[in-house]
Amino acid sequence: MSAELLFRDDLVKRLRDVVRAAVLTGAGASQESGVRTFRDAQVGLWAQFRPEDLATPEAFARNPKRVWDWYAERRRLLQDVEPNPAHWALAEMERRIPHFTLITQNIDGLHQRAGSVHVVELHGNLHRVRCSVCGRYAERWDETEETPPRCVACGGMLRPDVVWFGEFLPRLEWERARSAAETCQVFFSIGTSGVVEPAASLPFIAKRQGALIVEINLEATPLTPSADYSLRGKAGEILPALVRAVWGGEG
Ligand code: OAD
Repeated sequence: MSAELLFRDDLVKRLRDVVRAAVLTGAGASQESGVRTFRDAQVGLWAQFRPEDLATPEAFARNPKRVWDWYAERRRLLQDVEPNPAHWALAEMERRIPHFTLITQNIDGLHQRAGSVHVVELHGNLHRVRCSVCGRYAERWDETEETPPRCVACGGMLRPDVVWFGEFLPRLEWERARSAAETCQVFFSIGTSGVVEPAASLPFIAKRQGALIVEINLEATPLTPSADYSLRGKAGEILPALVRAVWGGEG
């Protein structure tokens, strides 16, 4: 980014005084790290499948090995991936705003790697698995010849601890996200197409209670008409510039 982005003075002033903020991120926040968004076509071996055909309980029941292997491949791809300036800027915002909740639809764990602490993982985390029978969680497991590996407690098949299409969100995470939307003064929607419920309703919950809505996205979304500020562009460029404009220092 050559020229420093110029932000409306009223936006900068309002953000300087913010005490309670909530952020919703989607795949666009990780895109500049090289992580494919849901809109990007699948590549290589997986080009023949759509996420909707792999990330479902039915797909896992039908072919658990294929679903496990798809997530194992995405986990492997993440080994070469680093947080990008959008992730770092959001970690800086958390340090600057007293009550800050980062709600993410992403399962890549990049926000935590960039130093974000209060992260609500609405759709789970690719680096965690759980038993499909007894529900036991694990962040480490033994890879065996048999895939998916088996639960050490009950022998059930392990599955990625991510929310599949048609599944409910983890209740506690959803309650935390909704509470943040209901109490924040500013709600940021960043890098999400805003079409998957119930995450997509969070900015509207915030707007209804009077929060300022700031959208940062490459393209217009269903939220855009309701946003007080819609900053069109790359999150990895806009967020660091916004942090510098509001709080100075390194965004
Ligand atoms: P999408 O791929 O639907 O949307 C990504 C959005 O980010 C698009 O609107 C892009 O224009 C925008 N974008 C891409 N690169 C960007 C960048 N560098 N800076 C800013 N914006 C950028 O991904 P999500 O909205 O995250 O759910 O999808 C939401 C959910 O749909 C996912 O969590 C997944 C999927 O169904 C589950 O897996 C349950």
